[in-house]
Amino acid sequence: MSSEDKRTSPIGVFDSGIGGLTVYKALRAALPHEDFIYLGDTAHLPYGTKSPEAVLQYTVQAARELMENNIKLLVIACNTATAVALPSLPSLLEDLPCLGVIDPGAQAAAKTSITGRIAVLATEGTVKSGAYAAAIKHYRPDAHIQMLACNLLVALVEEGWSDGAEADAIISRYLSMLQPDFDVLVLGCTHFPLLASTIRKHLPASVQIIDSASTTAIAVETFLVRNDLLRVGTEVGKTSFYVTNAPERFERLAERFLGYDINVENREPTNSYAART
Ligand code: DGL
Repeated sequence: MSSEDKRTSPIGVFDSGIGGLTVYKALRAALPHEDFIYLGDTAHLPYGTKSPEAVLQYTVQAARELMENNIKLLVIACNTATAVALPSLPSLLEDLPCLGVIDPGAQAAAKTSITGRIAVLATEGTVKSGAYAAAIKHYRPDAHIQMLACNLLVALVEEGWSDGAEADAIISRYLSMLQPDFDVLVLGCTHFPLLASTIRKHLPASVQIIDSASTTAIAVETFLVRNDLLRVGTEVGKTSFYVTNAPERFERLAERFLGYDINVENREPTNSYAART
């Protein structure tokens, strides 16, 4: 592939469901000329309660499907898949460049915290992997980190119940399980930024909330510039959306979150995901 072809190739964005749209939205805003292919593996959602072996298998399968579209970069817009699969991916995917969401969020948390006391809300799989604690400690060895698995928050988002009495009750119960001494709260699951305004209501004003969406977008842009892969020009980039199950449901929730209409194609995990909006 020539350098020009590489620059104009799409970026693959992968998540287990709709949560990765929080990352996609930030990517789209930061990189208006790029083409994206978003794949939500809704057939296997949730990843957060699955074994690391299963998450690795699903992630590799999805990545291989995205590679059929000649993607120049794969963004793993899922914390669980990043935690469990990212380290093994380049060797399993013919050295395809892959970026995850944990390192950018961890770096931002380490920089933002004054006291070094940081809490992370994530899925069970991400908590068990220890990936956030390791990434935060890499940037801030003195950090004191609390991790809390909040699996029900994924279900709230997938149900479209981001606010209201149910969200308030569940969020307040989870937050009460943390020692209240942290000054930074990391939303360590791509679904959780959709609950940010409700989470905010239950925290002291002094606590800063960090999510990986905008920080991942900056990391992706930096990677593209450094590797001469940035698509330049005036044309607005296109996005194709695929899911492995129930496209209508994804479409409904995604349109509410993105604020505009999209077409979502269903593709079974073993088929090609080729189509466009
Ligand atoms: N997208 C996943 C993550 O960021 C959460 C949803 C799931 O459990 O699949 O960890």
